[in-house]
Amino acid sequence: SKPYLIAPSILSADFAKLGEEVERVLASGADVIHFDVMDNHYVPNLTFGSMICKALRDYGIEAPIDVHLMVSPVDSMIEQFLEAGASIITFHPEASSHIDRSLQLIKDGGAECGLVLNPATPLHYLDYVMDKVDQILLMSVNPGYGGQSFIEGTLEKVRQVRQRIITSGREIRLEVDGGIKASNIRAIAEAGADMFVAGSAIFNQEDYKAAIDAMRTELAL
Ligand code: DX5
Ligand code: ZN
Repeated sequence: SKPYLIAPSILSADFAKLGEEVERVLASGADVIHFDVMDNHYVPNLTFGSMICKALRDYGIEAPIDVHLMVSPVDSMIEQFLEAGASIITFHPEASSHIDRSLQLIKDGGAECGLVLNPATPLHYLDYVMDKVDQILLMSVNPGYGGQSFIEGTLEKVRQVRQRIITSGREIRLEVDGGIKASNIRAIAEAGADMFVAGSAIFNQEDYKAAIDAMRTELAL
């Protein structure tokens, strides 16, 4: 398996032709499709729900879909996304009243589960779930919008979470989301991340393959 996963965020895709955009970014070398769900309640923006995920599956998209829930409450959305064909579902612990229950709901539905921590959210949310999570997502911007700048303090947090993963002895993916581009991806990988979300750095380019190749070149150095 590839050591590093690149997960383009369709938040920056052209929604008027979403199926084609997803096909094109997969043909350009994307490993996973990152699917940003915003509810205008937990975050101050509104995107798309499970019907769009289902539509991509019905259109023929077979790649893993990584659903990042920026919604509160979370459990009803988890159920809908399990039905809609999500592969991985992550949520923000502050948005769930019963974190263990929400994680278990995802696992019982046959998807991989994880928590998302905002830039200032403490790591202690991970304390009692390291035996359960398949993935940990660290936000390197405040959630709600694409195209923001990477918050440098995230690098130290990535190092700390990588240590926790090593201590756990489990294979847990460490994903980082926000402001990632070819010029900073290597430093993020060196800090311990192995899965990289990129929205504007891919979809705002003419050539998606060139954008992804530039990131892979940095990761291979
Ligand atoms: C922000 C989203 C991110 C965003 C990343 O709330 O979770 O996935 O789309 O976009 P860029 O790569 O443009 O920062
Ligand atoms: Zn995201």
